[in-house]
Amino acid sequence: MSEQAKYPRFIQEVDLLEVCQQFGTPLYVYDAQKIIDQIQRLKNAFSRGQAKFKFAAKALTNQSILKLIRKQGLGLDVVSIQEVHLGLQAGFKPQEIMYTPNCVAFTEIQEAVELGVTINIDNLPLLDRFGQTYGSSVPCCIRLNPGILAGGNFKISTGHHRSKFGISALRLEEVLHTVSRYQIFVNGLHIHTGSDITDVDVFMMGAELLFKTAMKFPQLQFIDFGSGFKVPYKPDDAFTDLEQLAQRLQEKFDIFCQEYGRPLEMWFEPGKFIVSEAGFLLASVNVVKPTPDITFIGLDTGLNHLIRPMMYDAYHKIINLSRPDGEKQRYDVVGYICETDTFGSDRDIAQVHEGDVIAILNAGAYGFSMASNYNSRLRPAEILIYEGKAHLIRKKENLEDLLKNQIAIEL
Ligand SMILES: Cc1ncc(COP(=O)(O)O)c(C=O)c1O
Repeated sequence: MSEQAKYPRFIQEVDLLEVCQQFGTPLYVYDAQKIIDQIQRLKNAFSRGQAKFKFAAKALTNQSILKLIRKQGLGLDVVSIQEVHLGLQAGFKPQEIMYTPNCVAFTEIQEAVELGVTINIDNLPLLDRFGQTYGSSVPCCIRLNPGILAGGNFKISTGHHRSKFGISALRLEEVLHTVSRYQIFVNGLHIHTGSDITDVDVFMMGAELLFKTAMKFPQLQFIDFGSGFKVPYKPDDAFTDLEQLAQRLQEKFDIFCQEYGRPLEMWFEPGKFIVSEAGFLLASVNVVKPTPDITFIGLDTGLNHLIRPMMYDAYHKIINLSRPDGEKQRYDVVGYICETDTFGSDRDIAQVHEGDVIAILNAGAYGFSMASNYNSRLRPAEILIYEGKAHLIRKKENLEDLLKNQIAIEL
């Protein structure tokens, strides 16, 4: 059998069915080699320039994954003070961490400044307060909202005028006024237009805006182009042409740097591109339930473990790992949560029996990191397949975890 045909039953020769037997289901499993390969693809595509990559930790914050990514030489992009701490705990140096908060209390910003991470400012009142507090003593980056509507789903489009993210590029005069009033040291400019952007022209539009705006900020050290690189979720699905993007962006960036008068660093913050395809949610079939319209496959997991399909209609390929060669039948694949929690409708899957193990693909990004205890369900274990061995990198929760912060008062 070819390596491709075996995948994903076997990852680096490790049999996922055996892993399920050993650790139980449901289970998140990650392929370390795939993460390393994706990072290498990024490095190869942008090999000509001054590119730096900061992994968007929100996609997957497990310490072992963060350590693996740090080992590949990447920095970290974080969105909460807790993610700052997780990053430091995983060994990232403060100067390798970019903190892009949104609507957080100023005390979080102060804590992050004290920890020494790069601060990205995404609203005008915050810029004012930052200037009042720190003047020119602490550098900061400014997140612009480019006014571009793009991305796979409205809920993951972050660069349009109705989005809460960033400072509208139309309010540049006010930004400049505040910067000059407090002599703020602006060391970077940033945009992140959204996730799942396939059209290279969209990235280029954002880049042009950044280049134009950058000419007004003489102390810059980097331009952060955010992310949005799409990976394929379906067979024949569209994805970001990274190589084309790198080539076009690099050309424009070189011209920009000449006009700017000195070379700057080019930053990116990919999350999904690095970990999405490396991750699998494995679950057992609790029930096969025929109804007059459709046959349901009911799994021992639900939207509490993978919310993307219900949250923004995300498509995840689903396969029968136990019996991949059976005759295809049409199913709706659902979870055990007392809400509608459909993982996939009208899916043709090799005939399923109770007890079979089902694999939900592309579950590495925004899978476990968005998991919850809804319905008082336990969050699953996480396994990293690294150098041909399955490592437990997070234990499955237990009832004590559900109760540990609760206080039952005397009534
Ligand atoms: C500021 C910021 N940077 C980077 C990312 C990562 O995006 P993606 O997972 O599409 O690469 C996100 C995700 O929403 C984000 O909000």
